Amino acid sequence: MKTETVAALYDRRRRSQTAATVHAVKLLRAGQIVALPTETVYGLAADALNATAVAKIFEAKERPRFDPLIVHLPDRDWLERIAKIDNQSRELIEKLIAHFWPGPFTLVLRRQSIVPEIVTAGLDTVALRISAHPIFAEIVREFGSPLAAPSANRFGRVSPTTPQHVLDELGGRIPLIVDAGPTRHGIESTIIALRGGKIDILRRGPITSEQLSAFGTINIVTSRENIAAPGQWLSHYAPKTPLELIADAQSFSARPNQRCALLAWNPVKMDNRFVAIRRLSEQDDLGEAAANLFRYLRELDALGLDLIVAERVPDQGLGAAINERLQRAWGRGD
Ligand code: TXA
Ligand code: MG
Repeated sequence: MKTETVAALYDRRRRSQTAATVHAVKLLRAGQIVALPTETVYGLAADALNATAVAKIFEAKERPRFDPLIVHLPDRDWLERIAKIDNQSRELIEKLIAHFWPGPFTLVLRRQSIVPEIVTAGLDTVALRISAHPIFAEIVREFGSPLAAPSANRFGRVSPTTPQHVLDELGGRIPLIVDAGPTRHGIESTIIALRGGKIDILRRGPITSEQLSAFGTINIVTSRENIAAPGQWLSHYAPKTPLELIADAQSFSARPNQRCALLAWNPVKMDNRFVAIRRLSEQDDLGEAAANLFRYLRELDALGLDLIVAERVPDQGLGAAINERLQRAWGRGD
């Protein structure tokens, strides 16, 4: 299959749809899969209510069928057509949604029976979000029904933050990539579930635990105990090159002839211990670091060295979400 990339530069003044939107919606209506930009990472979308279309996502990604997908809603009115909300949680859910939707925030709720089993991997829950990306929002609204969309990478690889990453991962397997440039946040959405009035964070992301703590007691569900999020405890976000996570590159010494790259948080000078160096943020800004994280990991991975040494970032706010990804890339995702 030939993979076409179509640019969709959004113009707020021009109200008509972009050619990319028209093209994407046509393919989605025909039960095809399409890579779309979101504010977090690129997603691989299909009609969430069409099991045959959704099966193509699993096939293209080589994703195991027990790993459920996130359903992206066209708007808030779809919420209770897809999920059930019990009366005890209603108030909290409404507050969270009012605050964080549209945005990088995914909520796990009990599912309605119209959601095909393949989407939820047979679970009785469904993960939901509304994307704030203008192109994604335009496409899902025009499509008029929810889109199932995991990150647009092959299973077990880091999520794509540029159209080129998607092409590297899925070129030849999908008909269309809608190109809206690099994604804003660079890491996947925060996933939460509610339990007994408390907020379980199943995956850290751009909406931080500090932000969520304004709404209730937070419980960070570590990946090992998190059996309810099947995809979470698998070794994930893995570059091919072995990665080691350390506090500070100062204390690192390479073995003789070991070819190493450095993914740095701290300021670095020229350093002959490393063949290549990428600093996550020259401004010491965690948002910028998150946006660069997967791109730099891919760049360093592509060099085919013996080891990527990554420095842990400060563990507050977005930093905790970045460290969670680095920890997984290290292969010790618990
Ligand atoms: O930012 C994002 O969330 C991106 C963009 C494309 O929206 N999507 C994304 O999807 O990261 P994916 O499939 O790569 O990661 C979704 C995670 C998986 O680890 C999956 O196991 C978990 O969400 N998940 C999905 N449904 C779930 C459910 N019902 N209960 C618990 N975890 C669930
Ligand atoms: Mg993923």
